[in-house]
Amino acid sequence: MKPDDAIFVAGHRGMVGASLVRLLRARGFNNLLLSTRAELDLCDAHAVRAFYEKFRPDHVLIAAAKVGGILANSTQPVEFLSENLQIELNLINGAHAVQVKKLLFLGSSCIYPKLAPQPMKETDLLTGSLEPTNAAYALAKICGLKLCQAYCTQYGDNFISAQPTNLYGPEDNFDLQSSHVLPALIRKFHMAKEEGRKSITLWGTGAAYREFLHVDDLAEACLFLMENYNSPEFVNVGCGKEIRIRDLADMVGQVTGFTGRIEWDTTKPDGSPRKLLDVSKLNNLGWHAKIPLGEGIHGTYQWWLKQQKS
Ligand SMILES: NC(=O)c1ccc[n+]([C@@H]2O[C@H](COP(=O)([O-])OP(=O)(O)OC[C@H]3O[C@@H](n4cnc5c(N)ncnc54)[C@H](OP(=O)(O)O)[C@@H]3O)[C@@H](O)[C@H]2O)c1
Repeated sequence: MKPDDAIFVAGHRGMVGASLVRLLRARGFNNLLLSTRAELDLCDAHAVRAFYEKFRPDHVLIAAAKVGGILANSTQPVEFLSENLQIELNLINGAHAVQVKKLLFLGSSCIYPKLAPQPMKETDLLTGSLEPTNAAYALAKICGLKLCQAYCTQYGDNFISAQPTNLYGPEDNFDLQSSHVLPALIRKFHMAKEEGRKSITLWGTGAAYREFLHVDDLAEACLFLMENYNSPEFVNVGCGKEIRIRDLADMVGQVTGFTGRIEWDTTKPDGSPRKLLDVSKLNNLGWHAKIPLGEGIHGTYQWWLKQQKS
C-alpha cells in the first residue's frame, strides 16, 4: 500500500475500524475513505455500489458487521444472519466490480465447530456443528470468507480474510445487554467498587479458558497481512495464549480496584471449556501479538472511565 492510496475502512467508528484508522494515520496513510452509517448504509446494495463507483478505492478493509454478545446473538439470529450477509455481499461484490487491488475481510473465531480440537487450526473449518447460540453470525462469516476465496480462485482478485479471536480495547461495547465478556467484567467490577459492595457474583464456574487480543494488536496484524500476505487461504489472528475466566476476573478486580469477594453462580453456563486459536500460521509469517493482557485491560479501563466523565 502506498501512502496516497485510497483506503476504504468500512465500519471505521467501531472498535476495530477506529483502531485501524488510528494505525493507518500513524503510518502516514492519509487518503482514507470513511463513511458513517447515516452517510452510507452498508446493507443498501445500490448505495454501496454508487459509493464504490464514485470513490474507486484502491484497498478495502471490512471492519463493519453486526456484532454482539451471547444474548444479542441468541435472540436476533435473523438480524445477525441477514445484515452480515448483506454487508459482505455489498462490500465484496462491489470491490470486485470496481477492481479493488486488495481487500481484507474479518471473520471471527466463531466460524469453528463447537467441539473443534484446541487450539483451533484453519483446517478445522466446517469439520463439525457450530455453537448454536451464535450459529447465524458464524454462518454469515463463513459465507464472507468463502466469497473472498471464490473471487480469488475464479477471478484472481486479491481478497484475503483473517479470523480474529476475542477482541477488547478502546471503543469496545460496554452495554451489559450486548457486550462481550471482558468489557462486561470491567463494568460490573467498577460498579461493584463504586457501590462499595462486599461481593460480586459472576456467571458460571470461572473454569473455562478464553483468549483475548487487544484491538491495536489486531490492527497491526491486519496491516501486516495487507502488506505481506496474498492467498485465498484465511489466517487466524490471536495472541496464542489463554486465560482461565477466574484468573481474568481476578485481573479485572485488581485493575478496577475492587477488593470484595468474587462469587460464582454455578447454575449459569460456562460455554465451551476452551476456545483458543492456533496462530502458528500467522507467527510463521512473522507476526506476533505484543500487548500484555494486564496492560491492555488497564488501558481499556482508563479509556472507559474517560468516556464516563466526558
Ligand atoms: N469484537 C470482537 O471481539 C470481535 C472478535 C472477532 C471478530 N470481530 C470482527 O471484527 C469486525 C469489527 O468488529 P467490532 O468489534 O469493531 O464491531 P463494532 O464495534 O460493533 O463495529 C462495527 C461497525 O460496523 C458498522 N456497521 C454495522 N452495520 C452497518 C451498516 N448497516 N451500515 C454501516 N455501518 C455498519 C457499525 O456502525 P455504527 O457505529 O453506526 O453501529 C460499527 O462502526 C467484525 O467483522 C467482527 O465480526 C470482532
